[in-house]
Amino acid sequence: MFMKTHNGLFQLQYLERLGIDVWVRRQCEVTRQAPVENTAGRASVERPVQLGATAEDAADIQQQERPLTEQAEIASLNWEALRERVEQCERCSLHETRTQAVFGIGDRQAQLVLIGEAPGAQEDLRGEPFVGRAGKLLDEMLRAIDLSRETVYITNVLKSRPPNNRDPRPEEVAACEPYLRRQLELISPSLILALGRVAAQCLLKSTQSLGRLRGAWHHYGPQATLLRVTYHPAYLLRSPADKRNAWQDLKHVRQRLRDASPPMGVAP
Ligand code: URA
Repeated sequence: MFMKTHNGLFQLQYLERLGIDVWVRRQCEVTRQAPVENTAGRASVERPVQLGATAEDAADIQQQERPLTEQAEIASLNWEALRERVEQCERCSLHETRTQAVFGIGDRQAQLVLIGEAPGAQEDLRGEPFVGRAGKLLDEMLRAIDLSRETVYITNVLKSRPPNNRDPRPEEVAACEPYLRRQLELISPSLILALGRVAAQCLLKSTQSLGRLRGAWHHYGPQATLLRVTYHPAYLLRSPADKRNAWQDLKHVRQRLRDASPPMGVAP
């Protein structure tokens, strides 16, 4: 049964536009896998200066702890201050080559947050995530589950574009992590959808392949927010045969969102 969506199109039409052969109905086996816990906690920011330490020792310790202090500070920022901080960020060398930082867009109270890898060329120019061809497909994917760019929040692991769209480096991911963590804290979503291998591996601190990470629920961060992994839309543009698997992922997300928000008037 295909439902009519908010703007009048039938879900069937969206699936067709996604390039999914909707007349082929095959049950996709979802791999059962124990949920992977993300054990990354907030870094402890206070380490006592030992008695008897010299002024030089104290200066050294201060220097070493600066990044931790900065992380704690980022963890306390409100939306506007956080955006400003990201726009002016020089925590890694990517600020030297970017046009501008790409903060994120959408509903700051969204139930669902989508997280990609890093801005590409067009995002770097426009200052908005997923505005290129992959972004158009992402919009279609969202529409297929009755959502839109305005009703979710979209951001990336990295806020600055890596030159030539190379993979993010570990030090860049680490430098950007406090921003993403704070965004997620402020939004407090019910669900996170990681788009592609790089986002999934960074968020879950895993080296497992996308194939292994898909098809199971994971947890992110101190709130153990539910996290699902799907293909990156840029990959789906290159490998449309996997759109059907992506549709299975989206259906799991849609179901969890429905479970998380019972219809008006129905007690939870
Ligand atoms: N790819 C991503 O991962 N993020 C974007 O914002 C654009 C392309």
